[in-house]
Amino acid sequence: MNYDVENIKNAAIAEVEGASDLKQIDDIRIKYLGKKGEITQLMKTMGALPADERPAFGAIVNSARGAVEDALNAKKAAMESVAIQNKMLSEKIDVTMPGVKPVLGSVHPLTKVLNQIKQIFVGMGFVIAEGPEVEKDYYNFDALNIPPTHSARDEDDTFYIDGFDDVLLRTQTSSVQIRVMEHQKPPIRMVAPGRVYRSDAVDATHSPMFHQIEGLVVDKGVTMADLKGTLSDFVNNLYGEKIDVRFRPHHFQFTEPSAEMDISCPNCGGKGCNVCKGEGWIEILGAGMVHAKVLERCGIDPNVYSGFAFGLGLERIAMRSLGINDLRLFYENDVRFLNQF
Ligand code: PHE
Repeated sequence: MNYDVENIKNAAIAEVEGASDLKQIDDIRIKYLGKKGEITQLMKTMGALPADERPAFGAIVNSARGAVEDALNAKKAAMESVAIQNKMLSEKIDVTMPGVKPVLGSVHPLTKVLNQIKQIFVGMGFVIAEGPEVEKDYYNFDALNIPPTHSARDEDDTFYIDGFDDVLLRTQTSSVQIRVMEHQKPPIRMVAPGRVYRSDAVDATHSPMFHQIEGLVVDKGVTMADLKGTLSDFVNNLYGEKIDVRFRPHHFQFTEPSAEMDISCPNCGGKGCNVCKGEGWIEILGAGMVHAKVLERCGIDPNVYSGFAFGLGLERIAMRSLGINDLRLFYENDVRFLNQF
């Protein structure tokens, strides 16, 4: 009998030693120590023994049970500690490893140049204004003194919205002048950047959508000298002090007198090169004194107030600033191009 107990104990302990996971440990516990386990069953055979042998036998079985239990517990504890160590190893982070740099986009070159331009005007006390791109012809044309017969209204240049004969995609940001003057009385000093649309065929210098920046100043005693001073300051801020400006008489329906402003070629300093096509000068904007009729239509008395306005093309300026010779590059969004700025 005692020999059996020893054998069962040894067999149990050997199985515990060979166990490789917690499930096996549980199975072994049930096999030997469970209700119907082999060691439990041994206890039940005790009744068959003579009374004087029972205590000694009981002690032997209990000690075997204790030994198997100890072995099970020790093995389980060892397995759990290995599991924790493996978990810690697998979750280990080496904080000294170099990080993975996330791919970041960059500010679009047009936005970059626009921000630069806005900053210059804001520095001079201008506020930024906005107006809708889908516009009534009143704001794009009539209120700007462009009568229904004027060639600028030609269907060839203007995109009208289907189903409306008075709603269009604005062809110029000058519409924002009217919207601002309708709601705000002088003094006014605003710049309005935004998209404009003209039905032009796409080539290196034309696009049916491009950007303008409108400027408007209205106050008492504003003169052409203010226009010239403001715009030459702007150019010197943008391109540097060496740049000269010149004004050529021009015609716009909503300014009188009107002018186009040229800058001395930043590339050759005015000597003539391929950038300025040998002229030494480059046209950069249209401007003029706000027409009395335009002020009047917005409820501003032209006998008390006067103002100047200007409109510049963002793409042209950006092309020049960044040395780009094809406007289409701005819209294709090829990251190999965009990454260069
Ligand atoms: N809106 C004019 C254009 O698109 C530019 C301009 C703006 C001229 C303001 C004078 C005053 O050509």
